[in-house]
Amino acid sequence: MNLIFLGPPGAGKGTQAKVVCKHFNLEHISTGDLLRSVVKSNSLIGEKTREFMNKGLLVPDEIVVEIVAQEIKKNSKGFILDGFPRNLAQSEFLESALSSADIFLNKVFNFITSPEKVVDRLSGRRVCPKCRAIYHIKNMPPLEEGICDKCAGILAQRDDDKEEAIKERLRVYKQLSEPLISYYQEKGILCDVDGDLNVEPLFGIIKEILEI
Ligand code: AP5
Repeated sequence: MNLIFLGPPGAGKGTQAKVVCKHFNLEHISTGDLLRSVVKSNSLIGEKTREFMNKGLLVPDEIVVEIVAQEIKKNSKGFILDGFPRNLAQSEFLESALSSADIFLNKVFNFITSPEKVVDRLSGRRVCPKCRAIYHIKNMPPLEEGICDKCAGILAQRDDDKEEAIKERLRVYKQLSEPLISYYQEKGILCDVDGDLNVEPLFGIIKEILEI
């Protein structure tokens, strides 16, 4: 099973992807996480990547498609692409990479979320830099404030979860990523889901769709 999770920043794609991957034994390919690892590498390319991410802009396609191509090649059990593609050029790249590897996309889940939820979720998000677990100070707090339940890492706010970067990410999503909704609708594999729902009920809906 090969899926794409599409939706604005803070729609809950990453949180839901972890649950769905665990249940269906899929690989979670998050371009955001992969790019944050590139940033940590202290290389020239990492420095360039950091500048784009902190401003809320898309990282140039040539950097991202190379990373995704490697992940797809490595994968043997099916995947969720979370955060990729993000513009039409990336979706065209993906189509040709998948077809040359004889891989088919089963579904694209489009997370529909209200702007108020997005702002609340992003401003309250805390992440574990060590194991990448995702928390929310109100909705999904850790057992001990500021400490990761899974690995005891110190939770942090993402650099791009600041007000200016959030605004820019939302603008970029509208301009470059939203056209992907009709792209996948025309291919007959788009499935809208209510991203405002809590994690468990939303997982129930996605599971039911995937088990049909
Ligand atoms: P990326 O890391 O992909 O960020 P994003 O798409 O903006 O999405 P987020 O991670 O912010 O949100 P999410 O939908 O995963 O929500 P989450 O589950 O964390 O990308 C970051 C940057 O990398 C981009 O801006 C760009 O620069 C670059 N990049 C990435 N991919 C790229 C590409 N393909 N091309 C070029 N550049 C690229 O949840 C958010 C919060 O809400 C959490 O606190 C969580 O606990 C809470 N929450 C989640 N779900 C629920 C729920 N159902 N109910 C209540 N609370 C919930």
